[in-house]
Amino acid sequence: MNQLGIDKFLKCKFCNARAVHPRLKLCKEHFIKYFDKKVLKVLKHVPNLKNQSLLVAVSGGKDSLTAAHVLKRLGFKITLYFLNLGIFDFSLESERVVKSFAKNQDLDLNIDVLKPSLPELLQSLNKKKIFRKPCSVCGLIKRYRINKYTFEHGFSFTVTGHNLDDELSLQVLNLATQNFEQAERLNTVLMPKPSLKLAGRIKPLYWLSEFDIALYAKLNNIEVVKSRCVYNKGNKQFLIKQWLNNVDQSIPSFKQGLLKSIRKLLKHKVKGLEFDTSNVKPCKRCGYPTTSKDQVCSYCKIFENLD
Ligand code: FES
Ligand code: ZN
Ligand code: ZN
Repeated sequence: MNQLGIDKFLKCKFCNARAVHPRLKLCKEHFIKYFDKKVLKVLKHVPNLKNQSLLVAVSGGKDSLTAAHVLKRLGFKITLYFLNLGIFDFSLESERVVKSFAKNQDLDLNIDVLKPSLPELLQSLNKKKIFRKPCSVCGLIKRYRINKYTFEHGFSFTVTGHNLDDELSLQVLNLATQNFEQAERLNTVLMPKPSLKLAGRIKPLYWLSEFDIALYAKLNNIEVVKSRCVYNKGNKQFLIKQWLNNVDQSIPSFKQGLLKSIRKLLKHKVKGLEFDTSNVKPCKRCGYPTTSKDQVCSYCKIFENLD
């Protein structure tokens, strides 16, 4: 066994070379072909994508850096975007890793800085007795800033590193809580809606598991952040991921099959998974889209609550 837990005598099912992926029994070359095929399955939904400029939101983690790496290798026009949230050493290390990736890959990198930082923001909300989960505030801020940056700087699409495990665990959680509001997140691609100031979104790694992505990153020597965010504890989605991975170990393709079935079921319930924009209005403060009844977006509300 090597450090990836792979039997060194295991052979590729196509060419008999040494396998790097134990379950799929693929050598490096055939695994990369498999990986590209899964990515292209998503990208083929956007016509003329090679002529569009894409902003890849990178965090320093394996998923977003892998998304950037594979798109660059496949010949797409990409620029990197990193939001420094000011989460102590974690953000410093993330920024260092992202800068080094941009340099190695010869890619343009835009660094945006959150002010006040996420910890300061959370402290100030807590002082006002507004208690929100750090990860949900963080997610909301990232989505807002990335969309705004993409839209204002003339990129057609934001690319994110969401993977099969992220999408499936979220949908399983939503099913368990009968929350169908986020069904449009099942889309691998959302086309831009300029009249609503909504940039397009693409998730090229949607059909790839965390294991596949970690393997790709390792085979391509992509350096990723080692430390974990201090706020990333006891996350429900993380527990669901662990449970799904355990089942998938014994029932191959369980996760892929389950995600496909959820998509089929929700397609009937939520108008073919179309992103319902009927309730989307421009925020009265910033002009970016919101579904809030008072027409003030959650991002503006958070910043209005600061001292
Ligand atoms: Fe967003 Fe940790 S990176 S809460
Ligand atoms: Zn092979
Ligand atoms: Zn707003």
